[in-house]
This record gives sequence, C-alpha cells and structure tokens, in this order.
Amino acid sequence: METKLWSDVDEYTTGLLFPKDPVLDAALSASEAGGLPPIAVSPSQGKLLMLLARLAGAKRILEIGTLGGYSTIWLARALPTGGRLISLEYSEKHAEVARANIAHAGLSDVAEVRVGDAGETIQQLEGPFDLFFIDADKKSIPHYLEWSLKLSRPGSLIVVDNVVREGALIDDRSKDPNVLGVRRMHDMIAAEPRLSATTIQTVGSKGYDGLTVALVN
Ligand code: SAH
Ligand code: DHB
Ligand code: MG
Repeated sequence: METKLWSDVDEYTTGLLFPKDPVLDAALSASEAGGLPPIAVSPSQGKLLMLLARLAGAKRILEIGTLGGYSTIWLARALPTGGRLISLEYSEKHAEVARANIAHAGLSDVAEVRVGDAGETIQQLEGPFDLFFIDADKKSIPHYLEWSLKLSRPGSLIVVDNVVREGALIDDRSKDPNVLGVRRMHDMIAAEPRLSATTIQTVGSKGYDGLTVALVN
C-alpha cells in the first residue's frame, strides 16, 4: 500500500491549511512521553471533527474514548461560549494525561474526562448531546451507537472512527471482535430509520481506515 505517499500528502495539505499549533503538538508529545499508544486521530481528521462540530452548531459533545485528549481538544475548540464536552475513558492513566493536556489547552472549564467503562458510564448521562464521537473499544461500537441514539435529538450527529479497518469491514467470516463490531454497526444503521449515514474510507498518516457519519433524523 502507498502508505508513504498517503503520509506525504497529509503533510503537504496540513502544512498549507493548518497554522502551527503548539498546544496540539504538546498534547501529542505529552501522550508519547506518558507511554500512551500513538493512535489519536490524525491532524486532518481532528480538523474534520472540529469542522463537523461547528457545522452541527454543537453546544454539547459526547466523546467516547479520550486517550490523551487530542481529539478532545479539536472538538472542544469548536464549542461556543458555555458549550460543554464530556469524554469517557476507561484508563485512569490516559485520563490523567488527557486532563493535563486539556488544562494546557485552556479548556478545563469546557471539557471533562470521566473515568470508567464507557459501556456503563454512558448510561448515567443525561442527553441530549448534539454530537457524538465514538472512538473507544471497537467491539462495543454497537452498544455505544445504541446509547448515543438514546442521548440524541433530531439533528444530532454521530461520528464513528476506525470502521473500515484496512478493508476487514467486508470480511463476513471474520471472528475479530473489532471487525464484528463495525459490521454490526453497519447492520444496525441499515435497519434504523432514525439514522441517515455514510461511511467514508480514509488513507493518510493513520493508514487505511474510515469514518462513519450518521445524522439523526
Ligand atoms: N479519541 C482519541 C483516541 C482514543 S483511543 C483521539 O483520537 O485522540 C481509544 C481509547 O479508548 C483509549 O484511551 C482506551 O483506553 C479507551 N477505551 C477502551 N475501552 C474503553 C471502554 N470500555 N470505556 C472507555 N474507554 C475505553
Ligand atoms: C486503535 C484505536 C483507535 O481509536 C485508533 O484510531 C487506532 C487504533 C486501537 O485500539 O488499536
Ligand atoms: Mg480512533
């Protein structure tokens, strides 16, 4: 696969379209220094999340899967004054790194990290949220989608990361729980009249994967 070319193109476009961003760079450095895996969304994808949140006019955002707070910062920056973001994270260590990164971004009053299994903590939340970013354990995507719908309103946007998985999405014999998760999600959306959705395949510095964007009717 042309992974070098994909990364070079990401570098070219972000170099032109994104001003240098010491806060986001610092969030990635601190995540690396803290031993977190390098699996945050790419800069291009982070910017897309911010643009989607602005397009949706989001005032309340729910993120599932915080890691070091890189996507959290992109999303929180889209919020207007008084807007709020809640991010659900299983790992206390990831949450600690994320909170420090969020504080360094000046967003502590906007973005809150809640520690615990998101499959449970999501059930304690009160909706509606205007935008959901589902990016935690992939086997649980169907559960997160079901709960996102419960916590949504007509017009809410649901974005799901890592749904193509180098094409493994279409392997109907896969036993990989992650693949089963993204396949089940597509079946659920197909059977759900409340959702209007598309899956976009992506290549870039994060390899070959994809995003699902679903609008609640
Ligand atoms: N959204 C982040 C990346 C998230 S990586 C970004 O783009 O910057 C996935 C995160 O989900 C990891 O931090 C992992 O600890 C967390 N996670 C995995 N299973 C989880 C669960 N059951 N509940 C909450 N968080 C979970
Ligand atoms: C993994 C998780 C992600 O959210 C991602 O974007 C890439 C990889 C993972 O758990 O391996
Ligand atoms: Mg992801």
